[in-house]
Amino acid sequence: MAPVTTPTLTERPAWQALKEHCQAVKHLHLRQLFADDPARGVNFTAEGAGLYLDYSKNRINADTLRLLVQLAEECGLRRRIDAMFNGEKINVTEQRAALHIALRAPEDERIVVDGVNMVPEVHAVLDRMAAFADQLRSGEWRGSTGKPIRSIVNIGIGGSDLGPVMAYEALRHYTTRDISFRFISNVDGTDFKEATSAINPEETLFIVCSKTFTTAETLANAHAARKWILDKLNDVRAVRKHFVAVSTNAAEVSRFGIDTTNMFEFWDWVGGRYSMESAVGLSTMIAIGPGNFQAMLAGFRAMDQHFRSAQFDRNLPVLMGLLAIWHNNFFDTHTIAVLPYDQYLKRFPAYLQQLTMESNGKNITLNGGHVNYQTSPIVWGEPGTNGQHSFYQLMHQGTRLVPSDFIGFCQTLNPVGNHHDLLMANLFAQTEALAFGKTEAEVEAEGTPGWLSPHRSFEGNRPTNTILAERLTPYSLGTMIALYEHSVFTQGVIWDIDSFDQWGVELGKALAQRILRELENINDAPLKHDSSTNALMRRYRQLKGVQS
Ligand code: F6P
Repeated sequence: MAPVTTPTLTERPAWQALKEHCQAVKHLHLRQLFADDPARGVNFTAEGAGLYLDYSKNRINADTLRLLVQLAEECGLRRRIDAMFNGEKINVTEQRAALHIALRAPEDERIVVDGVNMVPEVHAVLDRMAAFADQLRSGEWRGSTGKPIRSIVNIGIGGSDLGPVMAYEALRHYTTRDISFRFISNVDGTDFKEATSAINPEETLFIVCSKTFTTAETLANAHAARKWILDKLNDVRAVRKHFVAVSTNAAEVSRFGIDTTNMFEFWDWVGGRYSMESAVGLSTMIAIGPGNFQAMLAGFRAMDQHFRSAQFDRNLPVLMGLLAIWHNNFFDTHTIAVLPYDQYLKRFPAYLQQLTMESNGKNITLNGGHVNYQTSPIVWGEPGTNGQHSFYQLMHQGTRLVPSDFIGFCQTLNPVGNHHDLLMANLFAQTEALAFGKTEAEVEAEGTPGWLSPHRSFEGNRPTNTILAERLTPYSLGTMIALYEHSVFTQGVIWDIDSFDQWGVELGKALAQRILRELENINDAPLKHDSSTNALMRRYRQLKGVQS
């Protein structure tokens, strides 16, 4: 019998049908789509876990949606969701489960990895974190000279930094003001210097956060922090009171000199970019308190349940994932803008950059073939309204189509005058303007001379999603992060790639190690890189003050 071969993505019937369908809808204008269906702004919406998604301002109709859902089904999305929730080793290249959903599972759930129910272990770590957070917040945990801790410095990079920073900024309203929080990620000494410039070592606790505990940047900063503490406090026993670690690697933690009783663990089935609600969130928990942290986990959990149970055409992460595919693969858009109309979410786009692009920036399928279609879009963004006075010009009148997610809250955490109405008026105005534009005739009817009207008109037909929540809370933040996590997963399933590995970061890391040795040992054998790299390194050596 001939072997049964799985069709590649582009051979799937739904993909073929979408390609054809795209030709038919491509030239439709959102003005027309809204005129044809007065209920469109209600019909093309979905709700889940307290979030409201309006996706009506996308260039789709009911057939598009039906075909996208069919594509998800043909690609086995349901089976893959179940596989993730059941702890199967869906991270195939690393032979691991991707079980971030276990980090927010309720205590009575069973999620088994290699024969062990992980949920009790997750809750045991959460309990230890809570006890430690309480000790710090109450002033019971003291530095080596007896002073309470007033500054927490998280040292980590990538997933060991972006989640903690984003959550700290996003939930600032809920944070204790008795302790200051700083984050050191970059191996640029400036980051270390500035973060430690105005704090007192006697009152400082470093959280060294690294899944592997081998990341060069993090270890360099952790060693600098150790020296900073020892230089100032002159007592090697101070390390015990001023350092804790968050890691999966106890051996490396103790090799660094941190007692493993001061280590908060997580597991290899948690990807770095999916780890902010594990022990990696220790700084978050200290900042907002264990109760608020639990509320954030409840938000994640609510979105997990929605993702697992809602039918695809009402499922927020699935809809957002499929719309991303629609734009990326059928309209050939290259980027997605994430535009939170909330200053607290200023680091949310940066967080989503790692989540999305490290997960889906791949060109090899699960069974090792090359993709013949585009994968992850480039994610970028800034809070509104700031972006309006910067790059929105291109979004409105540029030659590129930029699908975008607008995020807003109905209630403000900081009532000041009519600021919140003004803020939200701008959000609604932008999505309306992007969708419907303004014709030259409309511009001229307002008295603009004919020669100027092309410059002042707006084509419109720019796709947007709008995500609304009642209020920015730990709970709603949790729902929103899980929304994007599962949307990214949905896209990865359609593209048939492993969304949980990151081999693409390795080559640069290895080369940097070699180049570092060459920069430090300038009398060694001649440089053997390409002519460009050699010349750049020579110039660097010269200008840093050493002759090569
Ligand atoms: O270099 C990429 C990466 O491995 C990310 O995936 C990860 O979040 C980051 O580095 C930090 O890794 P670690 O937590 O092991 O220090």
